[in-house]
Amino acid sequence: MKYLVTSALPYANGPIHLGHIAGAYLPADIYVRFLRNSGEEALFICGTDEHGVPITLNAESQGINPEDVIKENHRVIQEGFDKIDINFDIFSGTHNDTHAAMSQHFFTKLSENGFIHEKEIEQLYCEHDKMFLPDRYVEGICPLCGYDGARGDQCDKCGNALNTLDLKEPKCKICSATPIVRTSKHWFLALDKLQSRLEEWLESKKGWKSNVKAFVKQWFERGLEPRGITRDLSWGVPVPVEGADGKVLYVWFDAPIGYLSFTKMLLDEQGKQWEEWWKGGDDVSLVHFIGKDNIVFHAIIWPAMLMGVDEGLKLPDEIPANEFLNLEGDKISTSRNYAIWVHEFLESFDSDIVRFYLARIAPETKDADFSFDGFKTSVNSELSATYGNFVNRNLAFINKFFDGELTGEFEDDKADDELWTSVNSEIDIILESYKTFNVRDALFHTMEIGRIANKYFDTMAPWALRKENKARCRQVLLNCVNLIDTIAVLMDPITPKSTAKVMAMLGQNGEISFADVKTRRIGENFKIAADVEILFHQIDQDSIDAEKKKLDN
Ligand code: 2FM
Ligand code: ZN
Repeated sequence: MKYLVTSALPYANGPIHLGHIAGAYLPADIYVRFLRNSGEEALFICGTDEHGVPITLNAESQGINPEDVIKENHRVIQEGFDKIDINFDIFSGTHNDTHAAMSQHFFTKLSENGFIHEKEIEQLYCEHDKMFLPDRYVEGICPLCGYDGARGDQCDKCGNALNTLDLKEPKCKICSATPIVRTSKHWFLALDKLQSRLEEWLESKKGWKSNVKAFVKQWFERGLEPRGITRDLSWGVPVPVEGADGKVLYVWFDAPIGYLSFTKMLLDEQGKQWEEWWKGGDDVSLVHFIGKDNIVFHAIIWPAMLMGVDEGLKLPDEIPANEFLNLEGDKISTSRNYAIWVHEFLESFDSDIVRFYLARIAPETKDADFSFDGFKTSVNSELSATYGNFVNRNLAFINKFFDGELTGEFEDDKADDELWTSVNSEIDIILESYKTFNVRDALFHTMEIGRIANKYFDTMAPWALRKENKARCRQVLLNCVNLIDTIAVLMDPITPKSTAKVMAMLGQNGEISFADVKTRRIGENFKIAADVEILFHQIDQDSIDAEKKKLDN
């Protein structure tokens, strides 16, 4: 089996925050590292989502071109990913010829296959801004509850979904002018024609997360309707139909095609065939990591597009959608600047400890909360105390009393068998958890090995043993070295930099492999191979206070 793993394409309209990382990027990066450590072949695909109205408005407000906006944001987003060690095989973007050609091909094929039709529709148009207004850019009085401040697509007061044209006293959100009604020709994707096939396909996805299943079920119950896939705009992929000047594909139509066009870009460059992956049938597993706000697009619309083009393209095999991350008990808000920006935060904190805390609180089954105090406590009294400190106390002991090497007589005891039996049963749970997207559990049980390890060290009391029975003491310490090795190997997907440091100290130069994690053993004549350094420095209160202050400003 080969794995084609994607993360939702971040909008190139601003930097990304830790909520994004926790939802769609870190879980994917951890999964890919898990796969590779398990000997599987995997491609990890992402890039920026570079079309859509907000980018054009952002450019306008800054007096620059949309191209400049996406270029700068692509750079900043990439910088954030680099700093937190999220390593895609390709991190491209959707504003280029390869992507446009692929998107237009989708449109044309869907049209030829009878899944796209055109229709004249009435829309609100702002004569001042000279543009048709997307629903979110219209505000007015809710026709249902009278709330003044309802958005074109929904009223936040009564929660009802609205039709923009029904809003009373509509105003352009950009300039406050009153828009007029104009007709315009648009193209629609006939989701209704694909509903039964989609339902049948989704029915077969027994193991999918309940949030995805429940969401999709609701949509099916309401009945799928044709969905507009074009917009009157100049920024985007032109609609490949004669006379469609000034119209582009809707950003949500072209964005997921990025998964495919980026794979093509990557493999073209390597002289390989993208079809081997996207048309690889059951030999390939297609896994889309997303946040819960993207479920409808990945579990309904994108599969419908893939089915409709009818070219033997893979449908998603897994859609591990995560819930949201809150911040200090409140919703993250980019517009209010209530967020922790990745490229900034990683200036102050090491990537491994941030990855650890985000994995520890991963919003896998319900919304989670990032709190600075929680971050400090988890890192200091769990990661550092259970794992970092175990590495340190053992290796420092071996350095001090055994000159950094374990040579001579060794003496076994049946306590050691019991130790490894309990460690091995944790390993089974850890590997299964990684495989089934339960990173929190994988981490919890790896820390459990850390707790077992510390207890073993304390019970065996090598400080006394070294005076009474040196051979037994050597064996105990060698077991501890192997416990360090086991924990470091298992932590590799989450804290890869620290694993590399541990491997250097233990003199293990081979590749990390989960295949033999239960049996790999460092043997007699072990020698510490590098300076023993502190793995995780304690987070002090001052740096936490500084972050809290930043958030308040
Ligand atoms: O919600 C978002 O941030 C979108 N830019 C995600 C797009 S994912 C995909 F379909 F490309
Ligand atoms: Zn306006």
